[in-house]
Parts: sequence; structure tokens; C-alpha cells
Amino acid sequence: MPVTRGKFITLEGLEGVGKTTNRELIEAQLQRAGIDFVGTREPGGTKVGESLRELVLHAHGELQAQTELLMMTASRVEHIAQLIEPALESGRWVLCDRYLDASAAYQGAGRQLGIETVLNLHTLMGVSLEPDLTLLLDMPVEAGLARMAARGSPDRIEREAVAFFERARQAYLTRAKAAPHRVTVIDAAGPIHQVGGAVAAAVQSLIDSSR
Ligand SMILES: Nc1ncnc2c1ncn2[C@@H]1O[C@H](COP(=O)(O)OP(=O)(O)OP(=O)(O)O)[C@@H](O)[C@H]1O
Ligand SMILES: [Mg+2]
Repeated sequence: MPVTRGKFITLEGLEGVGKTTNRELIEAQLQRAGIDFVGTREPGGTKVGESLRELVLHAHGELQAQTELLMMTASRVEHIAQLIEPALESGRWVLCDRYLDASAAYQGAGRQLGIETVLNLHTLMGVSLEPDLTLLLDMPVEAGLARMAARGSPDRIEREAVAFFERARQAYLTRAKAAPHRVTVIDAAGPIHQVGGAVAAAVQSLIDSSR
């Protein structure tokens, strides 16, 4: 019998909006539904990807914006080839904490390399995999940064100015508007049970449509 391809779900949003918190809730939901899945993150998810993550988030001194984009893209290329695509092909679902929308938002808009540059680079590198569902956790920048600050010492990207995150947030929202078939925007400012409930409803729709 041919294997039904798995679904690809991504979690997106600025620092501290609750991606990792909700990733854990979704993992429990998929488990309850009896769905075989793999949870992963970007940058990272492979050995070389995790090394790139360490470099890009904790590099000593300055990194050119282009270097940052190339490293994020390199991590993604490995991640798709080694983990995401094989899992989906074998029928497993993939739940990923950040993906291509994050590069569009952070390197494209935040670092002002241009969203087109980010997308063109991915096209040139042969990256065409789109998520089946993207959950964009959205809330005002300052509120997310406050949640993050409560968590301890910021990494290289987390230390960016508010204007950087404002640009990234707008890019995320613009991309969501352009791809309503794929992106569900979730108000992340509410209490966890409320945010988690909205996330669970979107995931449940995907589960239902896959059966
Ligand atoms: N809805 C919520 N209300 C209040 N606090 C929350 C909510 N969701 C998450 N938190 C808390 O906010 C902090 C950041 O959450 P989390 O680590 O899930 O965010 P994140 O989006 O993964 O951040 P990062 O981008 O830095 O990985 C954590 O301490 C978490 O417990
Ligand atoms: Mg996280």
C-alpha cells in the first residue's frame, strides 16, 4: 500500500511569543491522535544545523547580515534533506519551531536584506517545500520581549532593537495575509490556555482533513 505523505506544521513568531510552549502542546495533541511525528527546530535539527545555530546565535563579534542569511539557509537545506523530507515521505508528520517565514521576517525585513532576496536564494538552492500549516503566534513586540527578558540572558538576535522586531512582525503578518490557505494567525497575547486552545483548533482541522 502506498504511504500517505505526512503533514508539515511550522510554528512562527517573534521572540518569547510561545512557540516552544505551544510546540509541546501540539506534540501531546498529535500523540493523543495516534499520529507518528517528529518535532524539530530551526536553525538546527541536524548535527551541522545545530552547529550552525550555535554559531549564528552566539557568534563572537559581528556577523554580516548576508552571512547570517547564508547560515540560516544552509541549516535549512540540510534539515530538509536529512530530516524533514524523509520523514514526510515515510508518512510521519513534522512539527518545526521556525522555518522559511522566519528568514523572510528576520533576515529579509529585520536585517533589511529584502524578502525577495531571501526567497530568491531559497529558490536558487532548490528549496520549495511549503508547510501544510503555519501557526503564526502574533503579539505586540514589547510584550513578547518582556516574556523573553524574564527568561534570562539574550542571544545575538534577541539583543536587537525594537525597530528590528517591528519590521519582522510586519513581514510575518504580510506573508500571512498573502497565504491564508497555509498560515493561521493566532493572538498570542492571551493566557496560555487561550492561545493553546486556538492552536489546538487549527491543528485539529488539519488532522480532520487528513483522515
Ligand atoms: N500565553 C502565555 N502567557 C504567558 N506566558 C507565556 C505564554 N506562552 C508562553 N509563555 C511564557 O513565555 C516565555 C517564552 O515562551 P516560549 O519559550 O514558548 O517562547 P518562544 O516563542 O519559543 O521564544 P523563542 O523565540 O525565544 O524561542 C516562557 O517563559 C513561557 O512559559
Ligand atoms: Mg522557543
